[in-house]
Amino acid sequence: MAGGLVARVPGGPEAMEWADLPTPEPGPGEVLVAHKAIGVNFIDVYFRTGLYAWPEGTMIPGAEASGTIEAVGAGVTEFRRGDRVAYVMPHGAYRERRVVPAERLVPLPDGIDSVAIAGAMLKGLTAQYLVTSSYAVQPGDTVLVHAAAGGVGLILGQWLKALGAHAIGTAGGPKKVALASKHGYAHVIDYKAQDFVAEVERLTGGKGCAAVYDSVGADTWRGSLKCLKRRGMFVNFGQSSGLIRDFSLADLAAGGSLSANRPVLFDYIAERGELLERSADLFARILDGTIRLDIAATRPLREAAAAHADLEARRTVGSTILLV
Ligand SMILES: NC(=O)c1ccc[n+]([C@@H]2O[C@H](COP(=O)([O-])OP(=O)(O)OC[C@H]3O[C@@H](n4cnc5c(N)ncnc54)[C@H](OP(=O)(O)O)[C@@H]3O)[C@@H](O)[C@H]2O)c1
Repeated sequence: MAGGLVARVPGGPEAMEWADLPTPEPGPGEVLVAHKAIGVNFIDVYFRTGLYAWPEGTMIPGAEASGTIEAVGAGVTEFRRGDRVAYVMPHGAYRERRVVPAERLVPLPDGIDSVAIAGAMLKGLTAQYLVTSSYAVQPGDTVLVHAAAGGVGLILGQWLKALGAHAIGTAGGPKKVALASKHGYAHVIDYKAQDFVAEVERLTGGKGCAAVYDSVGADTWRGSLKCLKRRGMFVNFGQSSGLIRDFSLADLAAGGSLSANRPVLFDYIAERGELLERSADLFARILDGTIRLDIAATRPLREAAAAHADLEARRTVGSTILLV
C-alpha cells in the first residue's frame, strides 16, 4: 500500500483527499516508480475543477514527477531497478508510488537534481517547445511573456535570453517584478499597476513584439494582440484568469495579418523520440547553467490542497514542489 490524493468529484482544493492506494505490479512495458518529488502546475487545478475532461471514476491530479524505479515489467530493457527517472503525464502523479509506461519515462543524467527537476519537467519542456516550435525565436526578436514570475515564466525568461531575444515580462506586483527581472527578462511590467499595452508600445518604440506568450488568457488576450507587430505570433498556452471567449479570426486581420496558436505540451512529446530530444535540450541547458532552477517552495505531498489554494490566489512565484 502507498498513499495518494484522490478527488472523487470536481471541486475546490478540499476535493482532494488522502487515501490508501494499492500498488500494482508493473505489467509488460511498465515500471513501478517510487516518487521522490512532484511538481504543482496550473493544469492540476484545471483537472481538479473539471475545466479539463474528468477521467473515468476518481481523479488523482499531478502532471510531473521524479523518482526511482522499484520494479520493471516484462519486456522493459531500457530501465533497471534503482534508475533515477522523471516524467510528464496529464494527471495521476499526486501519490507515493505509481506504475508508469516505460516509454513515458526520461532517465535523469548525473547533475540533474531529482527534486528540482520534478518542478521543471512539464514547465521546462513547455518553455522548450514554446521557443522552438510554437514560434521559433530568433536572436534580436522582442517577445512578450505574461506571468513572467510564474513557474513557466521564470524558465521561459532565461531561455529567451539565451536565444538572444529581448524578453519583456509582465508580473503582478513589485516582488514578482523583481524576481522575474533576475530570470532573463530585459524589462518587467507590473501589469497590476501599469497598462501593459502602453508600456510595450513605449519600450519597443511603437514597433511591437514578434511574439506574445500568453498563459493568462481572459484578462490579457485583447491587449496581447495589440502588442504584436505586423505578422506577429500570438501564442495562447493557458488561461489562469479564465478561458478566452469571443476571439475571432477577424481579430488577426485587424491586428496586422497576425497568426495565433493554442498549443498543448502533450502534442509536442507524444513520440518517444521527440520526448527524449526535447528533454535532452532542457537538461543540457540546466547542466551548462543557462537555466537555473530555483525551488520557490516545497511542501509535503499531503499539503497539495494548500499549494493549489496559493497557486489559484496568485500567491506563488516560480515552482512549488511536493515532497514524498
Ligand atoms: N499549454 C501547455 O502546454 C502548457 C504547459 C504548461 C503550463 N501551461 C499554462 O501556463 C500557465 C502557467 O502555469 P504555471 O503552473 O507555471 O502557473 P504560474 O504561472 O506559476 O501561476 C499562474 C500565474 O498566472 C498569473 N495570473 C494572472 N491572472 C490570474 C488569475 N486570475 N488567477 C490566477 N493566476 C493569475 C499569476 O501571476 P501574476 O500575479 O504575476 O499575474 C499567477 O501566479 C498556466 O496557465 C498553465 O495552464 C500550459
